Amino acid sequence: MAFPGFMNIAALTLCIFVLANCNHQVQASSRAFSGKESKISPGNGLCASWVTIHGYKCQELEVTTKDGYILSIQRIPEGRSEVKNNVTKKKEPVIVQHGVAVDGATWFLNSPKQNLPMILADNGFDVWVTNTRGTKYSRKHTSLDPSNKKYWDWSWDELVTDEMPAIFDFVSKQTGEQKINYIGHSLGTLVALVSLSEGKWVNQVKSVALLSPIAYLSKVKTVLGQVGARSLLGEKKFSKILTKYIINVFFNCPILGENCCLTSSAFQQFLKVAPQSSSTRNLFHLAQTVRSGVLAKFDFERLGSNMVHYGKLTPPIYNLSNIPKNVPIFISYGGRDALSDVADVKRLLNEHFRNHDTGKLSVQFIDNYAHLDYVMAANANEIVYKNVTSFFQRQW
Ligand SMILES: *[C@@H]1O[C@H](CO)[C@@H](O)[C@H](O)[C@H]1NC(C)=O
Ligand SMILES: *[C@@H]1O[C@H](CO)[C@@H](O)[C@H](O)[C@H]1NC(C)=O
Ligand SMILES: *[C@@H]1O[C@H](CO)[C@@H](O)[C@H](O)[C@H]1NC(C)=O
Repeated sequence: MAFPGFMNIAALTLCIFVLANCNHQVQASSRAFSGKESKISPGNGLCASWVTIHGYKCQELEVTTKDGYILSIQRIPEGRSEVKNNVTKKKEPVIVQHGVAVDGATWFLNSPKQNLPMILADNGFDVWVTNTRGTKYSRKHTSLDPSNKKYWDWSWDELVTDEMPAIFDFVSKQTGEQKINYIGHSLGTLVALVSLSEGKWVNQVKSVALLSPIAYLSKVKTVLGQVGARSLLGEKKFSKILTKYIINVFFNCPILGENCCLTSSAFQQFLKVAPQSSSTRNLFHLAQTVRSGVLAKFDFERLGSNMVHYGKLTPPIYNLSNIPKNVPIFISYGGRDALSDVADVKRLLNEHFRNHDTGKLSVQFIDNYAHLDYVMAANANEIVYKNVTSFFQRQW
């Protein structure tokens, strides 16, 4: 079935409001969009639940950010055959960063031959799987409890300023200051693009792969614009609708971008691990991006607050043209993706990657891929992950 470019309002409304009711775990409160409840006991962390059962080594580690979040991170230091043959050699590290409303477990829903972290490990990489603050395995903080409103006072700005730098520093330290490869999906791509444009990572990063890149979200705006008089909706209402939209994209709402190649077993597993919690402010911030079409820091929407945080009335703009031209970047986007829309990705490429160094940019378009295919399509290994590993290896 061809993906319809135009969304019928009745069908869309049905999709947003009916499907949203299917996943009753989704609740937006004033502080957090809460997903799966977190019940972890020793011995059933991500490594034990998803990785070591397949014969891979896996270490549970913790990274503390400048703003006090204690993140769980899993390291798969080598491939399965190396465990058997007891080979050790120096490996290039790669960070694998998930998107919004999911966590690191989402990468592991398919078999070892099909999932990205294990494929990377089998191809000679030292793999580091991250879990964003607030998700199931990353609920600790040096002083705040998740029941405290303050715990949720962050948006993707803080992922750029505090979270990713802490992760890069940690991985760098643990690997003898080797340069680091990075793979992001969805929000993990926005964080990468903004980090690079802000001059971060530059001395630490080797290559970057962006799967389903999101920066401009004009398609989302067009679609949500039909839901109601957009300009009349308050920010809260709008961000609630956006949340449902995002969840529906993840949950395979057909008219919002039918995923091409998900197996039903992987999808059944997906329902067990998603959605994951995030902060309301994070979703507000995404909603602001959708509405304004401009990438900027979080807008506190009270003049005084912006003044206190930024020393000016409006939030500073992020300029993606400042991404260094010599960073090797692999981008893959799908023709049926309702978040990372084709026109939006083209705008990103045209506006900010025209002058990227030749040979340092590789762009892949996959006609029948939607958002979730990049994480768990049965054929993602053949179609995407092989290209990612060979792109990384070409930079050696
Ligand atoms: C693996 O190799 C190391 C040294 O290369 C050795 O010390 C260790 O005992 C070996 N482990 C196994 C299980 O063979
Ligand atoms: C963004 O940066 C580029 C070059 O780094 C500059 O030419 C352009 O004017 C900037 N855009 C804005 C909106 O500041
Ligand atoms: C991806 O891999 C296929 C087959 O290996 C190759 O034909 C294609 O050019 C690659 N595309 C990119 C963008 O690397």
